[in-house]
Order: sequence, then structure tokens, then C-alpha cells
Amino acid sequence: MNRADTGAQAPLLEVRDSPLHGLGVFAVRRIPRGTRVIEYLGERVSHTEADRRYDHDGAGDNHTFLFILDSHTVIDAGVDGNEARFVNHSCEPNCESVIESQRVYIDAIRTIEPGEELSYDYQLQREADDPPDIDAVFACRCGLERCRGSMLWPPPRAPRPQGRRGRRR
Ligand SMILES: C[S@@+](CC[C@H](N)C(=O)[O-])C[C@H]1O[C@@H](n2cnc3c(N)ncnc32)[C@H](O)[C@@H]1O
Ligand SMILES: [Zn+2]
Repeated sequence: MNRADTGAQAPLLEVRDSPLHGLGVFAVRRIPRGTRVIEYLGERVSHTEADRRYDHDGAGDNHTFLFILDSHTVIDAGVDGNEARFVNHSCEPNCESVIESQRVYIDAIRTIEPGEELSYDYQLQREADDPPDIDAVFACRCGLERCRGSMLWPPPRAPRPQGRRGRRR
């Protein structure tokens, strides 16, 4: 009996080793642009609780399964998360994260061919107390020509040319 007979859908995605980092998520079938690929699931916790869980991980640790939903709530995909937690960051992604009715989805922003790795731009928030080496800690390894070098947003400031005065505002 084939899948059509049972009514079951062939899987759209698989999780396997990624050249970007650790595990990644790959298309098994062609995913048309605009497809709602997967919901980002996990336990919903306060920012305080997320800090309590992970702040001790150390300044050099950039690994996170947290997704900030709003100023009150963080989704911790390390608890009750699904495959969405393995989608890696890229500076030229084929997906985007979309928040709708307090839920987070990953949608395809272009057609994705079988075997391609799924990615979205994490745009991790900078924080007031970030150390000076924060961009090195959150360095992006997407390796693309337009890689901005960091998973953080806004992008790192380009160094000022030597010997020139800054413009006073
Ligand atoms: C949600 S996880 C993605 C799954 C991850 N590859 C794994 O195996 O657990 C997010 C973490 O993966 C790593 N990561 C994802 N995309 C990356 C990239 N483009 N460059 C460097 N590290 C990346 C970072 O450590 C990031 O905090
Ligand atoms: Zn990049």
C-alpha cells in the first residue's frame, strides 16, 4: 500500500547534520514559495525564567533554542520543541519567521528544492550589556557572499576609516 492509499503525507523535512552548524533542517520535497513550513514549538516562559534557565551558560556560548515572542514571553524549544528548533540562521535565507496570533511559524520566502537546507535570519537582539566581543560570540558561519558576519541585528557597525573625523549630530 502506498502513501496515497493510506492518506498519509510524505514528510516535507528531515533533520540531519548541517555544514552550517550541528543539526539542520532539509527539504525532502519541493517546497513552494509561501508555504507555511512548520510552527516553532516549545514551552512558553517569561524572560526572567529564560534567563534563569540559560544565563549561566557562559559569555562564550552562543547556542540558543529560545525565540522571543514579545516583551513578556519567550518560546523555549529546548522543552517540548519540534524540528523547527534545528533550523539554522542564514544571512540570505530561504525562509522567514512570522508571528501570528501569538504563534511563531517558519514560512518559505522562495521555492526550496529537495536537499536544500532551510534557514531564516535569526536577527538576534542586541542587549545594552553586551560585551565588546559579542559579534565574535554570535559569528555567522553561513559562508555566503552577502554574509554580514553576525547572527545579531542590527548588523555590526563598519569600522570608521582611519584618520577621519566623525560627523557631529
Ligand atoms: C536553534 S539552534 C539551530 C540548530 C543547531 N544547529 C543545533 O544543532 O542545535 C541555534 C543555534 O545554532 C547555531 N547556529 C545556527 N545557525 C548558525 C550560523 N549560521 N552560524 C553559526 N552558528 C549557527 C548557533 O549556536 C545558534 O544559537
Ligand atoms: Zn551569514
